[in-house]
Amino acid sequence: MKISGDLIEFLRTKNYLREIDVELDINLEIPHIAYLEIKKAEPKVLLFNKPVDRLAGKNFDIPVLMNLFSSYKITEDFFGRTVESVANEIEKFIKLKPPTSFIGKLEFLKDIFKLKNVLPNRQSKNISDTHVRFDGHLTDLPILKTWSGDGGKFITMGQTYAHSPDGSVSNVGMYRLQVFDGKTLGMHWQIHKDTNIFFQEYKKLGIKMPVSIGIGGDPLYTWVATAPLPHGINEMLLYGFIKNYNAKLINSNSNYVPADLDIVIEGFVDPLKSRIEGPFGDHTGYYTLPEEYPILEVTNIYIKKNKPIYYATVVGKPPLEDKYMGWATERVFLPLLRTTAPDLIDYAMPENGVFHNLILGKMRVRYLGHPQQFMHTFWGVGQMSFVKNAIFVGENSPDLKDYPAITRHILNRLTYKNIMISIGTLDALDHSSPNALLGGKLGIDATSFDEVKLNKLEILTDDILLTKAINIFNSKDVQIFDLKQYFKDTQNPITIITVDKNRNSLQTKLKYFAILKAFSRIIIIVDNFGNNVNNIYMILWRVANNFDAQRDLYIEQNFYVVDGTNKLRDIDDLNREWPDDVTCDKEILLKLHKNGIIDYDMATIEKFQII
Ligand SMILES: Cc1cc2nc3c(=O)[nH]c(=O)nc-3n(C[C@H](O)[C@H](O)[C@H](O)COP(=O)(O)O)c2cc1C
Repeated sequence: MKISGDLIEFLRTKNYLREIDVELDINLEIPHIAYLEIKKAEPKVLLFNKPVDRLAGKNFDIPVLMNLFSSYKITEDFFGRTVESVANEIEKFIKLKPPTSFIGKLEFLKDIFKLKNVLPNRQSKNISDTHVRFDGHLTDLPILKTWSGDGGKFITMGQTYAHSPDGSVSNVGMYRLQVFDGKTLGMHWQIHKDTNIFFQEYKKLGIKMPVSIGIGGDPLYTWVATAPLPHGINEMLLYGFIKNYNAKLINSNSNYVPADLDIVIEGFVDPLKSRIEGPFGDHTGYYTLPEEYPILEVTNIYIKKNKPIYYATVVGKPPLEDKYMGWATERVFLPLLRTTAPDLIDYAMPENGVFHNLILGKMRVRYLGHPQQFMHTFWGVGQMSFVKNAIFVGENSPDLKDYPAITRHILNRLTYKNIMISIGTLDALDHSSPNALLGGKLGIDATSFDEVKLNKLEILTDDILLTKAINIFNSKDVQIFDLKQYFKDTQNPITIITVDKNRNSLQTKLKYFAILKAFSRIIIIVDNFGNNVNNIYMILWRVANNFDAQRDLYIEQNFYVVDGTNKLRDIDDLNREWPDDVTCDKEILLKLHKNGIIDYDMATIEKFQII
């Protein structure tokens, strides 16, 4: 299916949209509403028709559209077909062999001809031919301040179009963009990203880099901008491949951008100028700390002639829109991953595993060391190299998305002999490792066909084990609050314990927990503040965020202690600040509830640790 014409009309017809006609503030109110909505079982796309900035005393004519990628179904509507069909087609082209039969030849020709639609259609038009100049500055656009701790307002669904100095390579990437003032944006392209490669080339040449930021248009532009394609492959080719029609591009500031964008911001990045960017409440659900980034000096802003709309997203604690965007990436990139790891059957990145922080892979094991080879492969390929913790299972394992079944399967195969700890590159957003960008990697080989047989444990009730633990640790300067055991029927039962670290490093004390090894095999420690042992979804999120395999894992044969607590600078082998996690402003939520805009529902608030 092709989404033609008016996106809003499409969303209305499909009953995907909730339109809100009350005046709502771009400072926290609108993002808080979207944040709660996307956590519902059947979230709606939200259109805020009357955004205002109460602090600045402004009303905006441009509406704000949020939660566009609010389900698997709508994501596939934007693809115009199933995500699986895209993956299958990619796989087919990768494996393409010359046909032998006549029918085979016809099919082959059909497939090849389809590829002509992949190349973008670069039209001779200019942005000023298709769009009108916006009568205002960045501060006159309804750009949101998402979290109270954010360093300001940020464009969160901006497509950054740029090209190499010689014009031979172009790229679109999605990076957040901080509004410093009416004419300056912070360019948060992280060190590993494609646009940063261009930027370094401009820097070497000492010339300014022309950049165009696109907002809106076909929602698939936004998704392709997030796709981790290798440097040198323009994302617009992927767009054409998925849609089976060429992206129509026009000239903007010497970049080619889609002709149907709602808003286009043009400007130049001077390699000699930078500013402190952030903090910003991020995908991890934690703030990323302020850091130096280049800036864009804005020269022009253009808007669509007819009803421009400002698209935005909220990133924070899961589940959010990036769950559905990430799912599509995971599916589409499976055949591409198989080109370097042919025996990969499937993989999954659970949304509460904080994307690259936890990956599950299912593989066909053909020789000794094959799972370890896969670990190194993953840690070595493109953005997959950000993976912190990788667990591989064999062909006989349950569906990777059946989390209880796959966890049980892994726990019944885990032995200390099949654990590999390494060090490698990390996502710039990671806050757990002692230093930025480099940290611990954990690989678990749970591919064995047979279950392990370990010594029997004495399984106690949670209450009895808690009393025992409190008594033992009273003298050890670690205060224990609560405890819950999971997967007691497996070879490696897990016990979650909440503690108060008492501002002394827990690191040196991890080994004390070995006192509990007669009762449990995996002890996971988290802070008492902000964690609930009964909320396993958020416990996984917390531990995936905070755990660095080099520092936070104590192993004594088949007994493991995992430290998922927040770390303290200089005390816990941490050479930088530890950020806070993001929370909504309670007063604002209560006000929105009173005005009938949201439901202040305690169960949801606790389930997703919203305040
Ligand atoms: C909602 C959202 C926000 C993102 N923000 C950033 C960001 O601020 N900086 C960044 O480098 N990557 C960010 N990313 C990830 C990039 O979009 C992704 O890594 C993409 O592949 C980068 O494109 P590139 O490889 O062409 O540079 C974000 C992704 C999403 C879904």
